[in-house]
Amino acid sequence: MTSPQDFMRKDLQVVHGCPMIHAFTSNWERIEQFQNRLDDIVIATYPKSGTTWVSEIVDMILNDGDVEKCKRDFITVKVPMLEMALPGIRTSGIEQLEKNPSPRLVKTHLPTDLLPKSFWKNNCKMIYMARNAKDVAVSYYHFELMNNLHPLPGSWGEYLEKFMTGNVAYGSWFNHVKSWWKKKEEHPILFLYYEDMKQNPKQEIKKIVKFLEKNLNDEILDRIIHYTSFEMMKENPLVNYTHVPTSVMDHSKSPFMRKGVTGDWKNYFTVAQNEKFDAIYEKEMSGASLQFCTEI
Ligand code: A3P
Repeated sequence: MTSPQDFMRKDLQVVHGCPMIHAFTSNWERIEQFQNRLDDIVIATYPKSGTTWVSEIVDMILNDGDVEKCKRDFITVKVPMLEMALPGIRTSGIEQLEKNPSPRLVKTHLPTDLLPKSFWKNNCKMIYMARNAKDVAVSYYHFELMNNLHPLPGSWGEYLEKFMTGNVAYGSWFNHVKSWWKKKEEHPILFLYYEDMKQNPKQEIKKIVKFLEKNLNDEILDRIIHYTSFEMMKENPLVNYTHVPTSVMDHSKSPFMRKGVTGDWKNYFTVAQNEKFDAIYEKEMSGASLQFCTEI
């Protein structure tokens, strides 16, 4: 019998060059062979980039801002995570996707080269949300403190070293954002930034509405902005991950809905850490045309 302990705080396992959460790696063929439906909508992000936020926004858009319909289930059921698997313990992401009606929302953190080929072949619509690397690092550190499926992060300083070298689940932030940015040249990908969504949610939500070929009036847009604000989502047990057993996510270590701001990195990075990070950033991102904002 499998028990949650079998998956807790295990070292990452490398899958096709990408460090991956141990529990998710069993029977990886299930991911490679996954056959999508033509109207699937993929929500892709590097972890801690606002996946839950954009997922709830997209669900509200597809349901024309109907709050009651959006309360139909937990976010993990409405928008299953493709690669999620806890064999013998929980319904996997793929099992849940198989149950969901079309059009399905598919969440993933996979880098482009690990995404099942069928999504590319069938030209599925994809929404990618990116967030500046420094805030992602801080958010990811706190997430690893509370999520027992990840290895223990160590001290902040130790964790930051791992983050900078891509020695964390899903690998290098730099490679992730760059490869998804490049893919949009040849594929229908709406590329969004967390910071833009914070600054001007209406403008960004309108982009999603247009991309999904929907037509929503101003009143509905305002309702979506209200229900998907950080304050509302933090208190909403359907989206704030408090439904996940404490053995997996321990919110007393750090809540999933932590701060929801831009620029929190300034409270964590020392001057020396910031200088080192900037130097690595410049090298890794040289030649890349995507631009991030680290404070608003
Ligand atoms: P912080 O840890 O910086 O607070 P993901 O869903 O990809 O795991 O990302 C989680 C991050 O998004 C957390 O960041 C979380 O607080 C933030 N977040 C979740 N819902 C949000 C919302 N409605 N508005 C702003 N940020 C949100």
